[in-house]
Amino acid sequence: MKPHALCIPIPVQGHINPMLKLAKILHSKGFLITFVNTEFNHQRLIRSQGVEAVRGLSSFRFETIPDGLPQPQNLDATQDVLSLAQAIEENFLATFTTLVTKVSASHSPVTCIVADMLMGFTHAAASELGIPVFLLWTSGAGSLSCFDEYPNLLEKGLMPLKDSSYLVNGYLDTILDCIPAMDGISLKYIPPFIRYINPGDEYMAQFVCSQIERAKSASAIFFNTFDELDCDILNTLSSKFPPCYGIGPLHVLENKIIDKTLASFKSNLWKEDLECLKWLDSKESSSVIYVNFGSITVMTSQQLVEFGWGIAKSNYSFLWVIRPDLVIGESAILPPELLVEISGKGLLAEWCPQEQVLNHPSIGGFLTHSGWNSTIESISSGVPMICWPFFGDQQTNCWSGCNKWGISMEIDNNVTSDEVQKLVIELMKGEKGNSMRKKAVELKNKAEEACSFPTGSSIANLEKITHLMQTSSK
Ligand code: UDX
Repeated sequence: MKPHALCIPIPVQGHINPMLKLAKILHSKGFLITFVNTEFNHQRLIRSQGVEAVRGLSSFRFETIPDGLPQPQNLDATQDVLSLAQAIEENFLATFTTLVTKVSASHSPVTCIVADMLMGFTHAAASELGIPVFLLWTSGAGSLSCFDEYPNLLEKGLMPLKDSSYLVNGYLDTILDCIPAMDGISLKYIPPFIRYINPGDEYMAQFVCSQIERAKSASAIFFNTFDELDCDILNTLSSKFPPCYGIGPLHVLENKIIDKTLASFKSNLWKEDLECLKWLDSKESSSVIYVNFGSITVMTSQQLVEFGWGIAKSNYSFLWVIRPDLVIGESAILPPELLVEISGKGLLAEWCPQEQVLNHPSIGGFLTHSGWNSTIESISSGVPMICWPFFGDQQTNCWSGCNKWGISMEIDNNVTSDEVQKLVIELMKGEKGNSMRKKAVELKNKAEEACSFPTGSSIANLEKITHLMQTSSK
């Protein structure tokens, strides 16, 4: 009998993408797959990608569960992260357990659950049903070490911040020596939920801690990274958690091994603007700066305008993806005088095929919010970055890019157009930009090697985990 993996991502774009890639890879290794989306995301996928995206095969099926939240009016807006976290804790366990039971009875017994590490309720379902759980950590590996340190930071009184003046009085520059393989990291780059400054931070910090605690009973944890990039972190994590395996970059591995019948299964919740690829074809090599802040980041309209003027004044061609819900509480609209300034220099889009964009030869740099998918996709395309981290793991990813790998520069949170202009010029033609580009290309080559047959590290780890998944039982 074939092994049957039931895969469930946390229901946001940056987590669905890597989970779907892992599911496709496992299918190519002989697994039956059931992939679980929320009803809301299923609707969005059909709208943006067409029914093919979730049609499925007899050996790769899509299922849905409700998220229990009120149906949002706007299918183009990311659901509120705090509400989703609360829904995951309160609403998912019963429907998920019923679904696994139903799928096992009607199709083929589920032999393992592959869950996003933040879907901690899956452990209770798995334990009730006697099925092993494997976890996918879709954020940066370094951020897991930092999240794991939350209880100690609280106990030592280093966090939360006493008040918001601590954001600017230099306190966040306090260096921490307690995070393995992250020498020199300061409080500023620890995932910021623990500051308890924004509404919902305390809940989110406790939510993440509780998922991490439950992860300790999993059979193994998979990471969308590769040993040559992160083995120091993976080794230290393996001593505290179940065995940790780097099996990425998943999109590189996916392109190497999945069979073509799965090519139509897609996970973009917004419709991609494919015209931008043609526009990039008309540009010279490494001449375009690509700007994209992922699926969750929001900013004020003032910050949007500062970015706009900075990019325009740099005089480089640019592709700028502005999600309809990028600006807090309003539509993301640029002022007319800025639109005049950028016309002829840049292309605006609402959502793009990012992996293809980053791999396009005309892209010379990436202004990013440092989400982990964007970071690993940029690394595996050899593209250096300017980082404007927003929340979650992004501050830590930014720190690693700047300090460990030498492929990123950080932009101040209080963004000004002058700084954007200066950093874009430095990235595109400065000495530091050139050195970052060289290092990024070295890492791209290492990512490629990690995913190459027969000896690549991620290929070898994939062999190990598929063996483990085929042979383990509760
Ligand atoms: C979220 C968290 O915010 C992030 O910190 C965490 O590491 C993963 O989950 P998100 O903010 O959306 O993700 O950023 P990111 O991790 O970069 O994921 C975005 C994904 O959407 C990427 O795979 C990217 O290729 C894709 N994307 C984004 C597109 O295909 N087109 C776009 O226009 C924008």
